[in-house]
Amino acid sequence: MTSQKYLSELFSLEGRVAVVTGGSSGIGRGITEALARAGASVVVVARREAELARTVGELEAAGCRAAWVSADLGTSEGVRVAGDEAAAAFGEPDILVNCAGVNLRPPMSELDEDVWDTTMTVNLKAPYLLGRRYGPGMAGRGFGRIIHITSQQAHRAFVQSGAYGVSKGALESLARSQAEAWSPHGVTCNTLVPGFVMTPLNQRLSSDPERVAALAARTMVGRNGLAEDFAGAAVFLASAASSYVTGQSLFVDGGFSVH
Ligand SMILES: NC(=O)c1ccc[n+]([C@@H]2O[C@H](COP(=O)([O-])OP(=O)(O)OC[C@H]3O[C@@H](n4cnc5c(N)ncnc54)[C@H](OP(=O)(O)O)[C@@H]3O)[C@@H](O)[C@H]2O)c1
Repeated sequence: MTSQKYLSELFSLEGRVAVVTGGSSGIGRGITEALARAGASVVVVARREAELARTVGELEAAGCRAAWVSADLGTSEGVRVAGDEAAAAFGEPDILVNCAGVNLRPPMSELDEDVWDTTMTVNLKAPYLLGRRYGPGMAGRGFGRIIHITSQQAHRAFVQSGAYGVSKGALESLARSQAEAWSPHGVTCNTLVPGFVMTPLNQRLSSDPERVAALAARTMVGRNGLAEDFAGAAVFLASAASSYVTGQSLFVDGGFSVH
């Protein structure tokens, strides 16, 4: 068997359909491009239409198949609409990546119910609802991949983890519960755990050069993360290659968590 054919059997996403929430920016944008270039037809879900259209336009210009759905994952109705409209683009998905997230982290004493509810809805409830929307179908067809994006704060308190850390810790538990339910039917459920990646999400921290340098120094690789650092791990977790990997948290953090 040639190396090209062997690699394709392991990693090609040709013929697969993927839905990536938050795929119009940052880490999700990097994952969207990776899945599309590996052969998947990708539907990107977020709120802002201009960013969505730009993302899909760039992918199509590179010869990829992509579509977008504008929806607010901060409401159950928005998630329902997103779930149905995303499946209408290329058919029911084989791969779901839950990357949309919000990072509202007031000091614990000032953390009010609004911040708590928004955080839990976007970061945790939407992934649960989308899993419920697509997971049983994946299980029925005998193949599926669910990938959640969590955080260092799922594992340790760090720069005012607040409700954000709670939502990400629960998201890792959700991955394990989903893995327990659907892995016997070919649906693996895992999480990718970033370190610090300079994106619009953490603009406040990114604009402080000293803190950025201090965070880079805490890694083993010696730099902070880039969106493209997630490409290989995302394709692996979305592909046939990872069929015996489920319920796991894969740290893509340059060694940050073990330093
Ligand atoms: N950057 C880091 O250092 C870091 C570290 C650990 C974990 N993470 C996690 O990685 C994921 C991606 O973060 P990022 O840094 O790449 O952030 P980002 O660049 O700000 O991207 C966030 C994405 O989520 C979408 N989104 C946010 N709220 C939404 C809503 N209510 N409905 C629909 N879409 C929504 C955004 O699009 P719209 O605004 O247009 O809706 C955007 O596409 C998040 O889950 C985050 O918690 C990031």
